[in-house]
Amino acid sequence: MKKLLEQDAALIAPLYAKAPIEFVSGKGVKLRDTNGKEYLDFTSGISVNNLGHLHPAILKAVKKQQARFFHISNLYPNAPQIELAKKMLSLTKFGKEKGKAFFCNSGTEANEAAIKLARKYFAEKGEKRTEIISFINGFHGRTYGALSATGQEKLKSGFGPMLPGFIHVEWNDEKELKKAVSSKTAAIILEPIVAEGGILAPNKSFINLINSLSKKNKCLVIVDEIQVGLGRCGAISGAEKFGINADITTWAKSIGGGLPLGMVLMSEKIARSLKAGDHGTTFGGNPVACAAGLAVVETVSNKKFLANVEARSKQIKNGLEKLSKKYKWLGEIRGYGLLLGITTEKPVADLIKACRENGLLVLRAGTNVLRLLPPLIVSEREVALALKKLEDSCTHL
Ligand SMILES: Cc1ncc(COP(=O)(O)O)c(C=O)c1O
Repeated sequence: MKKLLEQDAALIAPLYAKAPIEFVSGKGVKLRDTNGKEYLDFTSGISVNNLGHLHPAILKAVKKQQARFFHISNLYPNAPQIELAKKMLSLTKFGKEKGKAFFCNSGTEANEAAIKLARKYFAEKGEKRTEIISFINGFHGRTYGALSATGQEKLKSGFGPMLPGFIHVEWNDEKELKKAVSSKTAAIILEPIVAEGGILAPNKSFINLINSLSKKNKCLVIVDEIQVGLGRCGAISGAEKFGINADITTWAKSIGGGLPLGMVLMSEKIARSLKAGDHGTTFGGNPVACAAGLAVVETVSNKKFLANVEARSKQIKNGLEKLSKKYKWLGEIRGYGLLLGITTEKPVADLIKACRENGLLVLRAGTNVLRLLPPLIVSEREVALALKKLEDSCTHL
């Protein structure tokens, strides 16, 4: 065990703070380490393993595609890509609008593409609109376009200069947003719920304002569904759940079922401004990843499946309420579906460590929020067990 951590420290760039565990296998909501200790995985690989570990539908789809081929270039159509695009378009407003899909490999790449598409759309119309408005505490990725849109200064420190043309507005601040939107605005980019930044939901009037400002100023709205979408917030699309009129949506994380996959959905008018060669990526829409993706989307879009997300969400919220009454240092409960959190006055890192020692894997959001992201397949029994482990961890703090 120590050996692997030592090798990691010697060989891997020190860009992640790693916990001292080596996992050897996973099944459903559970992970097992080298000592045979079992953990309830309430991180889902940071919203990737929404169907848990080794879901049979993903395994079957990957096996079937692997027997055909792993990769063909985007110079030829590929069936798994088309099937996944068809399914995602049919589940969102873009299907009704003859919208189109673009595939890439990750969340940051999906947002990178979305920003480029927004600027290109106006360039093709002959309009000089390049400004992108995003929100403080929002997170959109680590490449330069997505990082420029990200509203967390600490992530940019030492990497400047950022790209020009990005304006950051306080989340839910209507006055500031009104001031920021102008005839130079190409797009407003937002997460339906600011996830990494602290699980901050939007006010209804804020969403109404985004919709009315974009309509009046004819700028685009890009919704980053990367963490919140595909059932995590209790619906397929966070944009549709919160009533955001999106022109472009970006998807990644859970859409590949554990394989690297990102996707952009766009309205027809945006697709019309593009031509071959404008943008692309070698692995985007890899057939194996898309086959896994189709298995994920078909499973998640079943109504019964989403009913479980809502039931487990209520169960966790009730449990957190009880805990916050018992431990005064626990505070506000945040989130929707199975993107849930609770604020804590004690250091989140200590609580995460105590949970890990008790066999429960959880995450941080913002500076003081304990974040729970269980796989969406989590059962009532597993939630009850996780709440018990969380309570035990609180007692020991
Ligand atoms: C909302 C959101 N957007 C974008 C990203 C970046 O995705 P990736 O790490 O796949 O580049 C993340 C990752 O946490 C995210 O939560």
